Amino acid sequence: MTPASITPASITPDRQLRHLLTLDGLGAARINELLDAAASMRAHAMGGTALRQVLAGRTVCNLFFENSTRTRSSFQLAAQRLGADVLNFDIGMSSVKKGESPLDTLRTLEAMGIDAFVVRHAENGAVAALADGVRPHTVLINAGDGRAAHPTQGLLDMLTIRQRKGTDFSRLSVLVVGDVRHSRVARSGLHALRTLGCADIRVCGPSALLPEPAILSGCTVGGDLDAMLDGIDVVMMLRLQRERMEEGLVPSLTKYFYDYGLDAKRLALARPDAIVLHPGPINRGVEIAGDVADGPQSVILEQVANGVALRMAVLEQLLAR
Ligand code: NCD
Repeated sequence: MTPASITPASITPDRQLRHLLTLDGLGAARINELLDAAASMRAHAMGGTALRQVLAGRTVCNLFFENSTRTRSSFQLAAQRLGADVLNFDIGMSSVKKGESPLDTLRTLEAMGIDAFVVRHAENGAVAALADGVRPHTVLINAGDGRAAHPTQGLLDMLTIRQRKGTDFSRLSVLVVGDVRHSRVARSGLHALRTLGCADIRVCGPSALLPEPAILSGCTVGGDLDAMLDGIDVVMMLRLQRERMEEGLVPSLTKYFYDYGLDAKRLALARPDAIVLHPGPINRGVEIAGDVADGPQSVILEQVANGVALRMAVLEQLLAR
């Protein structure tokens, strides 16, 4: 399947967002609208009952064909804090194990009165393909498809950057480090950064872990992490995604950390007020040192908290009309 792209099915005839399959095709106005909505949701994202009427009577299903800690839990909490019912579908105990296809599984659950599906799948384009088969009012949100897209992660990363660095992305120097080739987070993040007008986007990683050139359009690409950290405001680290990798792309984890790992000495080469993002799960000592992940410049747990607010905003926008 080809990587997901914005399809007519993603937009309603009155130009509303119908599904959230990818950030490709969404302009700065629509992205900023979601970020503004998420910023105003933040006060309610950690609990409370103020917004429990927003999605009362609606049902959201988490349909994850791949593992997840942050994304699945935060979608569940986001939906519940807006008053929706949530079905966390357990693939491991389901008829998927008997060979039922993703679309038949989804249609079966849809018949039980699900309004929105949050779907993660290992294959590029899988969520967009499902979107073609659902009922007219059923909403699909892509929670990560293969290496293609992870739109809510891209948005929550922008929310986190904006919160610390302000809304003018044109003034920021942002460095994305590591396994860009296998990363749906990087694809959605790079698209969002370009759309929001970030003029200095740098990408650093071993050549075996760089993606196809189209993904890197407008980026400065290099392999010398020390040199690329100079003047950087935001460092976005990526996990080494060995589950999506052919053998041999990274000969040794020790050497990888030596060349591309972010430790405190390296981080000191960026601007003194630089922030460090990582989508999680982190591999301490592989792509990031433990003291950097836990240190004062790390915003990793802010990303997690923002994930709840951002997903509340997305659910509200797609479901509350
Ligand atoms: C990411 C994912 O699954 O794409 N995690 C997440 O959603 N926070 C990144 C990763 O697995 O490396």
